[in-house]
Amino acid sequence: MRVLVTGGAGYIGSHTVLALIEHQHDVIILDNFSNSHPLVINRLNELSGQTMKVYTGDLLDKSFLNNVFEQETIDAVIHFAGFKSVGESVAEPLKYYENNITGTLNLLEVMKAYQIKNLVFSSSATVYGANNPLPFKEPMPTSATNPYGYTKVMIEQILNDLAVSDSTWSITNLRYFNPIGAHKSGRIGELPSGIPNNLMPYITQVAVGIRSHLSVFGNDFDTIDGTGVRDYIHVLDLARGHVLALKKNQEERGAKVYNLGTGHGISVLQLIQAFEQENHVKIPYEVVERRAGDIGEVYADGTKAKEELGFQTEQTISDMVRDSWNWQKNNPNGYTQD
Ligand code: NAD
Ligand code: UD1
Repeated sequence: MRVLVTGGAGYIGSHTVLALIEHQHDVIILDNFSNSHPLVINRLNELSGQTMKVYTGDLLDKSFLNNVFEQETIDAVIHFAGFKSVGESVAEPLKYYENNITGTLNLLEVMKAYQIKNLVFSSSATVYGANNPLPFKEPMPTSATNPYGYTKVMIEQILNDLAVSDSTWSITNLRYFNPIGAHKSGRIGELPSGIPNNLMPYITQVAVGIRSHLSVFGNDFDTIDGTGVRDYIHVLDLARGHVLALKKNQEERGAKVYNLGTGHGISVLQLIQAFEQENHVKIPYEVVERRAGDIGEVYADGTKAKEELGFQTEQTISDMVRDSWNWQKNNPNGYTQD
C-alpha cells in the first residue's frame, strides 16, 4: 500500500515508517518539523536504503494538504501529527485544540474529498482517565483530565461518528501505553525538546550527564514499591502494531479500537534498576512530591489486540532500557550531521 504518514518525522512516526518499508509498503511523510529535526529524514534514508518522499507543511494549511492529495496516489493514512505535552496543553489549551482537533478535521475532510477512507490514528491510554479499574480494556468509558487527553477522547469520538455516518470508512484507533526504546541502530530515537516530561528520556539524560539526578514523583502510591507503575512498550513493537492495524483496516470496515501495551506494569524504581543493571550506569534519584494528576498504576489488557490483530510484543524491558541508552549515548546532542 501507499501510506501517508502524518508526523512521520516524529518519535513513533519515524520508527513506523521503517516498519512499513520493511513490510513492503510505500511511504510518504508529511510533517511540519515543529517537534522533530529535519535530519531524521537523512537517518531514515540511511536505514531504509531509500530516499524518503517528504512533504514539509502543516495540517492546519488546507491548501497544502489538498496539494499533497492532488499529487499523490494514497491508499491509507497513519495519523501521528499532533502536540503531546500534557503540561503545555494545560497552559495553552487553544494551541492544543487547534493543532490536534482542527488538524485532524482538515485531514479527514481532504481524505473524504479524495475518497481515501482508510485511517490509523494515534490515540493514547490517557483516554481511560482516572476512574477505570485495571487492567484497562477497550470498552471501558473514556474521559480525560487535561486538554491533551481531551483531544484524544474527542478525536476518537469524531472518528467513530464518521464511521457510523459512512460505512465505507476503515478506521483504527490505537491506544498506546508508554512507548520507550529506540531503533536498534541507535540512529533514530526520542528527542524531547527542553526538559523531558516523560520518565525514560529523563533517565537517559541523567545517564549521559545532561541532568544531575532524577526526581521520582512520589513513593506513596498503592503499588509494589510505592512508585508509579506503567506499561512500557518498545517503540519497535508499537511500530509493528501499525502495520497490523493497516492490515485489519483492509479486512474490516468501521471504527475499531485497540490497546497497544505489554499487559504488564513496572514501577519507576524497577525501571531505574533495569536500566542500571543492563547498562552499567548509575541513575542518582531523589523522591519528591507526587506530580499533579498522576495515578498510581496503569497497564493494558492486550487480549483484543492479540486476538484481532495478532499483535504480541517481542521486546523485553532489557531491550527497552538498552535501546533507549544506545540512542542517547550515540546522540548526546540529538540529531547532528554525522
Ligand atoms: P512527536 O512529537 O515525536 O511526533 C509528532 C510529529 O508531528 C512531529 O514530528 C511534529 O513535527 C509533527 N506535527 C505536529 N503538529 C503538526 C502539524 N500541525 N502539521 C504537521 N506536522 C505536525 O510525537 P510522538 O511521540 O511520535 O507521538 C506521535 C503521536 O502519538 C501523537 O499524536 C501523540 O499524541 C501520540 N501518543 C504519543 C505517546 C508518547 O508517549 N510518545 C503516547 C500516546 C500517544
Ligand atoms: C504521561 C502523561 C500522559 C501521556 C504519557 C505518554 C502526565 C500526567 N501524563 O503519562 O498523558 O499519555 O505521558 O506520553 O503527564 N516519573 C517520575 N519522574 C519523572 C518523570 C516521570 O517519577 O521525571 C514517573 C511518573 O510519576 C509516572 C512514571 O514515571 O509514574 C511514568 O511517567 P511518564 O513517562 O510521564 O508517563 P505517564 O505518567 O504514564
